[in-house]
Amino acid sequence: MKSSLALAGRMARLGTESAFEVLARAKALEAQGRSIINLGIGQPDFQTPPHIVEAAKKALADGHHGYTPANGILPLREAVAADLRRRHGVEVSPGSVLVVPGGKVTMFFAIMMFGEEGAEILYPNPGFPIYESVIRFSGAAPVPIDLHEDKGFSFSAEEVLAKITPRTRLIILNSPANPTGGVVPKIEFDKLAAGLERHPQVAILSDEIYGEILYDGARHVSLLSYPGLRDRVILLDGWSKTYAMTGWRLGYGVWPEALFPHAERLAINCHSCVNAAAQFAGIAALTGRRNEVERMVEAFAERRRIIVAALNKLPGFRCATPGGAFYVFPNVTGTGLSAKELETRLLEETGVATVAGTSFGAFGEGYLRFSYAASNAAIVEAMTRIGDWLARQGTKRRASVIS
Ligand SMILES: Cc1ncc(COP(=O)(O)O)c(C=O)c1O
Repeated sequence: MKSSLALAGRMARLGTESAFEVLARAKALEAQGRSIINLGIGQPDFQTPPHIVEAAKKALADGHHGYTPANGILPLREAVAADLRRRHGVEVSPGSVLVVPGGKVTMFFAIMMFGEEGAEILYPNPGFPIYESVIRFSGAAPVPIDLHEDKGFSFSAEEVLAKITPRTRLIILNSPANPTGGVVPKIEFDKLAAGLERHPQVAILSDEIYGEILYDGARHVSLLSYPGLRDRVILLDGWSKTYAMTGWRLGYGVWPEALFPHAERLAINCHSCVNAAAQFAGIAALTGRRNEVERMVEAFAERRRIIVAALNKLPGFRCATPGGAFYVFPNVTGTGLSAKELETRLLEETGVATVAGTSFGAFGEGYLRFSYAASNAAIVEAMTRIGDWLARQGTKRRASVIS
């Protein structure tokens, strides 16, 4: 007899991250012999620095093959605490650090901890698609915080505070941001932190995974640096972006004391611990030389300059200069095409992979995300292909008007 499996209702509410679908389509086209430039996926095109790789090899050679404590090995959590002191001037106990397999896990745990039917969770829109996906999965109602192009894709603290209701349990913030590259100015965080004092029931998940990829000498503002919020801020950070370690699956959360045991129980129920060798690599990353990280950020800054200038020359495109991360989010309404149509046609007809703004929420319509974690030459070639394609569309349009 044919099986008839009954999935839990919540499975129908789980979304996805379209960048992975674009990646699969780009790989399929490449396998057919097409030349593809991938500006779709959000990962550094650099290799993990060699001293970090060596530390993992040594850990394996030294016999670190077993489970570690669920929260991570102590020297790694101490290194995280020292790194947070160095970067943000904050004191964090190694006991509040939960090492997890990638930045996403802290997100999943925080949302599942607070989300249920009847609860509301605020999240940035356009924003990392997994926020909205997991909020819906949890049963909570997603309440978008709209980000404004004319504010450098920041939010207004007043607007965020106005969305808080007695049902609000969690606010998700992300600066520097995916997909816009936007950086929230300190003044907005100050206003938000002051306003949140009136809402002690609301927790904050601060996704700071791009906190070290900032330009023009800007300094990162961590939500951990607001003493009044310390007992309800969950910090999400990790190694993926800063150290070009997306495939290692290594991240961490800093949890308020009251929430930590719940997060740790989720970890024990879910993955037990992070693979041991990756944890040793994580120590080397945080305590070793930083010149490779600096070099990567300098390379991203140069690519940002190139891509923003080139995008602003394309007819129908308008691109603000982002303050951080390695994404640009040009407004493409002038092309007359929807974001999804443009994404599909650019991939199929020019071989340039991008991601439609709508993959990051409804407020992403009219925008396209380019990841500029690619070589200068690849960026220039992609811009040339798109420029030629747009010129051909213009010619076709003119021809059809005449005929
Ligand atoms: C804003 C944001 N948060 C978290 C993550 C997840 O990072 P990880 O690959 O470490 O799970 C990403 C990855 O793209 C991201 O863009």
